[in-house]
Amino acid sequence: MRILVTGGAGFIGANFLHLMVPRYPQHTFINLDKLTYAANLASVSEAARCPNYSFVQADIADAHAVQAVFAQYQPDVVIHFAAESHVDRSILGPAEFMQTNIIGTFNLLEACRTTWSPISQGLFQHISTDEVFGSLGATGYFTEHTRYDPSSPYSASKAASDHLVRAYHRTYGLPVKLTNCSNNYGPRQFPEKLIPLMILNAVAGQPLPVYGKGQNVRDWLYVEDHCEALWSVLMQGQVGATYAIGGGCEKTNLDVVHTVCRIVAEETGRSVSSLESLITFVPDRPGHDLRYAIDSTHMRTELGWTPQESFMSGLRKTVRWYLENTAWVEDVRTGAYRQWLATNYEHREQLLPAGGKEGSA
Ligand code: NAD
Ligand code: DAU
Repeated sequence: MRILVTGGAGFIGANFLHLMVPRYPQHTFINLDKLTYAANLASVSEAARCPNYSFVQADIADAHAVQAVFAQYQPDVVIHFAAESHVDRSILGPAEFMQTNIIGTFNLLEACRTTWSPISQGLFQHISTDEVFGSLGATGYFTEHTRYDPSSPYSASKAASDHLVRAYHRTYGLPVKLTNCSNNYGPRQFPEKLIPLMILNAVAGQPLPVYGKGQNVRDWLYVEDHCEALWSVLMQGQVGATYAIGGGCEKTNLDVVHTVCRIVAEETGRSVSSLESLITFVPDRPGHDLRYAIDSTHMRTELGWTPQESFMSGLRKTVRWYLENTAWVEDVRTGAYRQWLATNYEHREQLLPAGGKEGSA
C-alpha cells in the first residue's frame, strides 16, 4: 500500500509513523504536513531513516497542493490525522479550524474522488474525536450511535468533517472508515495539552493551571494503544463503519494533575507536596464539556483490540520521555525545529513555506 498520512509531524500521527514505518517495510508511508506550530519533524526522526518513508510539506486547505501530492505520490490509502486540534485555541481564533478541519478534509476527499478510478480502489480513514458528541452527564457512555452535539468551534469543525466523510461514502461510494477517540497522552504531545503542560510546569516549578474546580472528566488512552487500534481498523475494519475508541480510564482533571505530581516527584526526587502546592485554580474554559467516556465494545468484540497500557504505566513512560527529551521540548517551545531541518535535510528549502523565509509558517 502507498499510505498518505496527513499530520504525521503532530502528536498522534508521529507516534503512528514511529511505530508503523519500521514495522511494515512492505508499505510506503508519505507524511504530508503543513508544519504548523504543533508539528515537529524531530518526532519522526527515526521513521525518516527508513527507505519506505517520505515527507512532503503541504497545506491541506490548499486544493492545488493536495492534488499535486496525489499526482506525485499516487496514494491508495489516506489516513487523515491533520487538524487544528486544541480546543482553547479554537475559542480564541476559530478561523484556522474551519480552513484546516473542514476545507482541508473536503480537499482530501475531492482528491480521492477525482484521482481514484474506480473510486472503490482506495481507502480514506478519518481520525476523529469523541468531542463531536458533546458532553455526558454523570453516567452513560458515547458509542458509534451517539447523536452529534459539539460544544466548541474545534469539535464543531471535526463534526463537519465527519459528516463530509460519510457523505462521500454514501454519495460517491468512496470507501471510508471513521474513528472517534477519547483523550490521548504520551510522548511527543505539544505542551499546550493538559498532561505535557502539567509535567513540564511541575518540573520547572511553575503554576499548574486547573480550569474551574478540576472536576471535568476525560477518558485517557495511551497514544500507542490508539495507534494500534487505528492499524486494526485499517487492516480489519469494515468499509463504511465507525469505531469508537477509548481507554476505559475516566479521571477528573484534578486526579490527573495529582497523579502527575506524584510521578514527577518520584522521578525527580522532589517532594509531592511542593509540586502539589503549584496547583492553581483558574477561570473555566467557556462551553467546557463536563465528561467524556467511550464504550469501546465494537473495537473489542469485532477487532479484538484492547488497551495494553494502564494509566499509571503509561503516565510514568510519558513523564520519563519528557524528562529525557529536553531538546525536543525546547524545539517545540521555541520553534527551533527549523534549525533541526537545516542540519538534517539536504533539501531544506522544500520544507519551508513559499519564499523560503524562516519563521513565516
Ligand atoms: P496535533 O495538533 O498534535 O497535530 C496536528 C498535525 O496536523 C500537526 O503536525 C500540524 O502541522 C498538522 N496540520 C495542521 N494543519 C494542517 C494543514 N492545514 N495541512 C497539513 N497539515 C496540517 O494533533 P493530534 O493531537 O496529533 O491529533 C491528530 C488527529 O487526531 C486530529 O484530527 C484530532 O482531531 C484527532 N484526535 C486527537 C485526540 C487527542 O487527544 N490528541 C483524540 C482524538 C482525536
Ligand atoms: O477528547 C479528545 C480530545 O482531547 C481531542 O479531540 C483534542 O484534540 C485534544 O486536545 C483533547 O481535548 P481536551 O480539551 O479534552 O484536552 P486538553 O488537554 O486541552 O484538556 C483536557 C482537560 O483538562 C479539559 O477538561 C480542560 C482541562 N485543562 C486543560 C488545560 C490545557 C485544564 O484544567 N488546564 C489546562 O491548562
